[in-house]
Amino acid sequence: MIVGIDLGTTFSLISYINAGGVPTLIPSKRDPQRFQTASVVHVGERGAIVGDLVEELLQEEPSLPVCRFAKLGMGKSGVTAFTDHLGQAYSPEAISSLVLRKLKEDAEAALGEPVTGAVITVPANFNEAQRQATVNAGRLADIPVLGLVEEPLAAATFFGLNIKGGEKLIFVFDIGGGTLDATILSATPDGLYAIATEGADNIGGKNFDELIMGIVADQFRGQFGLDPRGEAETAQRLRMFATQSKIALSEPAASVVSKPLILAGKSLRVTFNRSQFEAAAEPWLEACQEVCERALKSQSLSWDDIDDLVLTGGSSLVPCVERKVREMSALQPARIRREQPHASIAYGAALLAEQFHGTKQTAAPPLRQQVTSNELGLRVFDPKERKAVFHAMIEKNVPVPTTARQTFYTQKADQTSLSIELLQRKDPFTPPETLGQFNFGPIRRPELNHPVTVELGYDGTGRVAVTASDGRTGESVAREFSQQAEADLTALHARLQKLSLSA
Ligand SMILES: Nc1ncnc2c1ncn2[C@@H]1O[C@H](COP(=O)(O)OP(=O)(O)OP(=O)(O)O)[C@@H](O)[C@H]1O
Ligand SMILES: [Mg+2]
Repeated sequence: MIVGIDLGTTFSLISYINAGGVPTLIPSKRDPQRFQTASVVHVGERGAIVGDLVEELLQEEPSLPVCRFAKLGMGKSGVTAFTDHLGQAYSPEAISSLVLRKLKEDAEAALGEPVTGAVITVPANFNEAQRQATVNAGRLADIPVLGLVEEPLAAATFFGLNIKGGEKLIFVFDIGGGTLDATILSATPDGLYAIATEGADNIGGKNFDELIMGIVADQFRGQFGLDPRGEAETAQRLRMFATQSKIALSEPAASVVSKPLILAGKSLRVTFNRSQFEAAAEPWLEACQEVCERALKSQSLSWDDIDDLVLTGGSSLVPCVERKVREMSALQPARIRREQPHASIAYGAALLAEQFHGTKQTAAPPLRQQVTSNELGLRVFDPKERKAVFHAMIEKNVPVPTTARQTFYTQKADQTSLSIELLQRKDPFTPPETLGQFNFGPIRRPELNHPVTVELGYDGTGRVAVTASDGRTGESVAREFSQQAEADLTALHARLQKLSLSA
């Protein structure tokens, strides 16, 4: 059986296409009524514990060390997401692999057959390192990863089940626990074509929780003179309280939170209202608007051009988020569609898993085109600026697969090699990240301005192929940047295999 997996910052889901061609969520083995797994992990003397069981244990054992939000650290080198009772460090990939293992076990228990392949969703603006880390997390969980798809494209595919005829421009606004994606697609009778995508992996429900944590911390400090966020266990309790309060305040009729809270052995009545929260949230809402406007601007579009706006992700349920979207787009209410904010991405993942890798027929429109969400290029020496700068060879929002070719020239007469450093940049405001580096050479007959042609090939599935060739002799070197050191992965896999998993 092949499955779709929404590996989320706060919640993860697994789904498949049933015999009738309908996307279906798979419940938790432990609780057949639950269709989402909290992306929270503990590793300790009892082995690995994943999901809602961790949340339950935290009620009785508030000091239980847990890892949340591992997704936000994926693909960032040197990040330790969690350290266990023996002092063993776990990378974000390792923690995510435990969440994936739990989902795989749920699926195999529910459907009585092995998972033979999965499509995992990623935020559109994940770079190659983050995508590769996601693939590795799958491999560490013994899941054959058939491919990755971007979350907003999965949401659009699910939404596409209900699009009838004609051509339409669709804007997907997907705000989850930790990430925001804004993607524009053209829906035609022939299928879906992604046109532009923008995003941020630091905007989501986690930020809203932290605003409420700040409001409560101020009240606590006012009464007791200390910041409750300074200590892990207390901060954990405060975070749970903040998330619950945020969700309570999202109810249309709710305007005030007034609740007792015991933190660090001290009892406090927390009182704040929705407008206090919304005032604090304003900078984040502005940031959401900027992301959306960048997506539109990249294609010289305006909101008037958009036919349907799809609001999805759990944080789209925060009333001021929805209001901001309505205000900034000024679209007619009927054009703003909210469908399954918690599950649309998982449903779409299963639809796309079958579309690209399976045999089952579904009513979903084919996804015909995906686009780059990052710029790809090289580090080059800029003689005017007298320093190494990022030079884009593949721009953002280019349909994939794509290639780019350019000739560079050596700077010195005795230069026998050229350093080729492959870089990726999310946007001009974010520093580029290195995807890999190699030295092209030896250049046998060095000379000033010796030509070296570099070709980049990007297939949109996490692999960048780089070929460098000598402009005089034609000798070439090809590299593919995708594989992380296999030996490291094998050792980590062996270590994780030894962990028992409860969920
Ligand atoms: N009713 C609600 N009101 C407000 N916020 C909500 C509500 N329900 C869920 N959320 C918030 O939505 C977020 C989870 O949304 P979702 O499951 O879409 O995110 P995710 O997939 O885990 O994250 P991401 O897609 O960013 O990786 C959490 O921050 C959660 O607190
Ligand atoms: Mg999500």
